[in-house]
Amino acid sequence: MHRKPMVAGNWKMNKSINETRDLLKEIKPLVEGIEDVTVVVCPPFVGLAIAKQELEGSQVHIGAQNMHWENSGAYTGEVSAGMLEGLAEYVIIGHSERRALFGETDETVNKKVLAAFGHGLKVIMCVGETLDENQAGKTAEVVSRQVKEGLKSVSVDQARGLTIAYEPVWAIGTGLAATPEGANDVHKKVIRPILRELFGREPGDAILILYGGSVNDKNARELFSQSDIDGGLIGGASLKAASFAAIVQAAR
Ligand code: PGA
Repeated sequence: MHRKPMVAGNWKMNKSINETRDLLKEIKPLVEGIEDVTVVVCPPFVGLAIAKQELEGSQVHIGAQNMHWENSGAYTGEVSAGMLEGLAEYVIIGHSERRALFGETDETVNKKVLAAFGHGLKVIMCVGETLDENQAGKTAEVVSRQVKEGLKSVSVDQARGLTIAYEPVWAIGTGLAATPEGANDVHKKVIRPILRELFGREPGDAILILYGGSVNDKNARELFSQSDIDGGLIGGASLKAASFAAIVQAAR
């Protein structure tokens, strides 16, 4: 099945309002007219409105990096799915930094996924094993659990708005990407079969599985040339227009 690749930039806690505007001004012309890749940028919450202004009329999509599962209420410092409506089309959920540093669990990831779909947002759900889990040979077990638990009660219809990002924790921000074959194996042998099992063969095959973890303009082409790597979730290399655009080109 042909899947249109996606390259999404996860800016993490980087870029002020002015820097957001500047970076988008640089990115826009570099990716203009590219229709065979879905390009997404995910600035911090405070940059979303600026991004929306700046990207008016461009084909670059906007994502948030997190959200809360409740609609509103006494949750100081949190942002709900309803508040993202109209600002962001996508939301990253369950990034390993959220899991490791902010106590997110498969259960809260699932609540967030359901709330996001309930508000018509598209979801980029992150999964991936730690170094210890990897060395203990538990990659398949951990990733399977994260995918199944994170997607509990998601309907086939909602799954049309789902993208999975496989991001081995040991590869994030380390400069040490997974090997293309190693990542492809996890996509093909671990994640894709679960998506088929949960949603049926055709809907399961239509879901993009991105790779993330030290993707850069040098290794992107080889990673993306694998049969089951449908693009990337890019951290560090998405903060410079030239490298981000080169990664988008590599996905074509
Ligand atoms: P990195 O981050 O590209 O800087 O390794 C990827 C991510 O955390 O999404």
